[in-house]
Amino acid sequence: MGEAHPYIGRLLLGKYQLVEHAGVGGMAEVFRAFTLGASGFRRPVAVKRIHDHLSQQDEFVRMFVEEARVVSELQHPNIVQIHDFDKDEAGRYFIVMEWVQGMSLLEWALLHVEHGFHTPWFLVSAVGIEVLKALGAAHGRRDGEGEPQPIYHRDVSPQNILIHESGIIKLADFGLARAMDRARTTTPDVIKGKLSYMAPELTRFAEPSPQSDIFGVGIVLWEVLTGRRLFCGEHPMQIVEAVRRTAVPSLRAARSDIPIALHDIVHRALSQDPNGRFASCREMMRALANILRTTPMRTDADVIAASLSSASAGRFTAATGTPAITDPRFVGPGAEPSAQFELLRRKS
Ligand SMILES: Nc1ncnc2c1ncn2[C@@H]1O[C@H](COP(=O)(O)OP(=O)(O)OP(=O)(O)O)[C@@H](O)[C@H]1O
Ligand SMILES: [Mg+2]
Repeated sequence: MGEAHPYIGRLLLGKYQLVEHAGVGGMAEVFRAFTLGASGFRRPVAVKRIHDHLSQQDEFVRMFVEEARVVSELQHPNIVQIHDFDKDEAGRYFIVMEWVQGMSLLEWALLHVEHGFHTPWFLVSAVGIEVLKALGAAHGRRDGEGEPQPIYHRDVSPQNILIHESGIIKLADFGLARAMDRARTTTPDVIKGKLSYMAPELTRFAEPSPQSDIFGVGIVLWEVLTGRRLFCGEHPMQIVEAVRRTAVPSLRAARSDIPIALHDIVHRALSQDPNGRFASCREMMRALANILRTTPMRTDADVIAASLSSASAGRFTAATGTPAITDPRFVGPGAEPSAQFELLRRKS
């Protein structure tokens, strides 16, 4: 990757050594790094440096610090843990978090698409269950007095779901979308990236809810199963309109190999009306778990780990459960690829 990045090798605040550029998102860029401690102690971490133009906006920084503080309290095996938050010598804010060695769900899905395969529906369902566990824990959060203090993710997308090489699923960037919204500092690119994963009611400024995150899970499942973007467009307003219309092409028309029950779950999560969706993450999780009970295919972390390596090698076998479908495009009636349905690869 980007070994030539000017920040590689730098030491932030005498503690965090940046070793590799991992990627750039709407709000920040991410580095693989090490925390340096006494006696040569080194721990791998991810350092997420907030873009310069955002670091300079007081309102954004204030919201961001507040969100990062709340989110850093979240401790769950399926949530990327936040370790630290600070400002470097150049005045740029950064978050230090757990480094997840592996790939994002987006990369995993793209490896399938690029080799002309579909992602195995049972593994996608298993990933969905883990993401719902993370969301359910955050929605059920209570403060010191035992009062409900839910945290909503608000940006559940295939790039924010990380798969550790051991097959463990970790949801990243909890609540950070909120700092962006509240500070109203979003640039058009950021808005576009986020809008595609927003629930229709949030485009009308409703308060986030368990159902708005459940809608996000529905989008992720639909996209990873079909290898296509669900809500996209050239301009932010076109994306908003697509989200508000909530026209969701039938999953089964895209993939006849998936169980009808899975089709029903994804479409229910993607109901335009929040009341039409699942009542809670737990309810959706149970529905997915029920389907997995009916298949002989294994879906534990070892199988997901094996699927990561076979996807990286571009070798898909029945052993990793990936059906060999040579044409990744839509097949079947009413499923013509149209301008609205682009390959997942496209960012917007
Ligand atoms: N904790 C982490 N461990 C390993 N890799 C990470 C971690 N966090 C992020 N990454 C990688 O860094 C890349 C950039 O992440 P970033 O969150 O900035 O952007 P994004 O997720 O692509 O988009 P968004 O702005 O919507 O979050 C991601 O593609 C991801 O693969
Ligand atoms: Mg992210």
